[in-house]
Amino acid sequence: MARNRSKLNEHWSSKWAFIFAAAGSAIGLGNIWKFPYITGANGGGAFVLIYLLCVLLIGIPILIAEIYIGRLGDDNPVDGMLNIIKNNKLSRLWVAIGWLAVIGSFLILSYYCVIAGWTLDYTVKSINGAFTHMTPMGIDNMFTALLAHPAKLIFYFTIFIALTGYILSQGISKGIEKAIFVLFPVLLIILIALVIYAIDTGFFVAGLKFLFQPDFSKINASSVLTAMGHAFFTLSLGMGAMMMYGAYLPKKYSIPQAAAWIAFIDTAIALLSGLAIFPIVFAHGLDAGAGPGLIFKTLPLAFAKLPYGHLFASLFFIMLAIAALTSTISLLEPSIAFLLKRTKLKRVQATMLACAATWIVGLCSLLSFNLLANVKFFMGTFFNNIDYLTTNMMLPTNAFLISLFVVWGIKRKHVQQDLMMTNVLHNIWYNVIKYFSPLAIIIVLISTIAS
Ligand code: TRP
Repeated sequence: MARNRSKLNEHWSSKWAFIFAAAGSAIGLGNIWKFPYITGANGGGAFVLIYLLCVLLIGIPILIAEIYIGRLGDDNPVDGMLNIIKNNKLSRLWVAIGWLAVIGSFLILSYYCVIAGWTLDYTVKSINGAFTHMTPMGIDNMFTALLAHPAKLIFYFTIFIALTGYILSQGISKGIEKAIFVLFPVLLIILIALVIYAIDTGFFVAGLKFLFQPDFSKINASSVLTAMGHAFFTLSLGMGAMMMYGAYLPKKYSIPQAAAWIAFIDTAIALLSGLAIFPIVFAHGLDAGAGPGLIFKTLPLAFAKLPYGHLFASLFFIMLAIAALTSTISLLEPSIAFLLKRTKLKRVQATMLACAATWIVGLCSLLSFNLLANVKFFMGTFFNNIDYLTTNMMLPTNAFLISLFVVWGIKRKHVQQDLMMTNVLHNIWYNVIKYFSPLAIIIVLISTIAS
């Protein structure tokens, strides 16, 4: 296919740099905070099984498509889409995919940094031993007090954006790659240490059973939708992150193989987090289905009662912050690449501008928990609305458009050549993308809107 010379002046220095950066994007609050609590709330094993099927049957195929479009576009999501449109003489309407990607990643980032800020506060708290001798009431009050304290929240939220910006200001190989090759091993070592610690609680088998023994009576239509939505979120699909990282991927590497690795690493980390968290929770007879408070309330309480709980609680929150950081860098990069292309700014300046914009929009989400808590419209607070708009609407819509685009926008012959899959795999993938994923996404979208 006729392609112009690369529009980006940097690329990943190796296949593994891409795989780990993308896995870092995928591994985030979604794996360590959200996956355990939605698994807990949906009864465990059967939900995990459905989630695994969603990753395999819909997640990986769309991940392949998204990375592929990114690489084909060879630029930030908007200009990348424009490149593909021009080279293939397609309708300009397809550029919507690029805009949804750049705007969506920016919006997700703005509220993601708010929660990431909480993890920093909890890191400091746990290091200071704030959870020792805590009562359930005390833990509850601690969390409520944090949310009611705008100055403190702003402090950590700002630090988090600054960390993200600092890494990205250094570029792809000196910034993202260098950070990921330090952060990922640290995350993995901490997680393994936590799993070993969980084995030591004596409740490891209970945790295993909870995660892997399916009880289908706990499953209903809404759990299936939750599982599918989470598969998209955890793989960072639809919102430009994977598209952008794909654009930095040299043509010689196989996308399907990389996608399989990314999904595997992401899933492994989610399951390991579950294996670390549930035994600790069960060891104290606490409730696994506590919802979003599982990590910020139930878990600190459990740590408070365990030997060396102080140390392991600290490690846990450091790990959570690291996981969040490797995701926020992938969420900010599309905006920076867009600014670099459309303005005369240097990378450092573009990063500062993108960070400032994130800070302003994110501030509204942050204040949704305190000063603006009573300002409610549509789905609730500003935070609720941004979360709903991005995760529940923009993300599936764009994943849907991406599936359509790969099938109806690009000639199958080229797709097959570029993706270098065997005939059998190609046929399976192509049919999934053509029929199965759009249908599944439409069902998710309609039921979201209906409820
Ligand atoms: N996947 C990350 C998580 O599990 C979050 C994330 C990063 C994301 N980039 C994204 C979600 C892009 C949707 C789209 O926490």
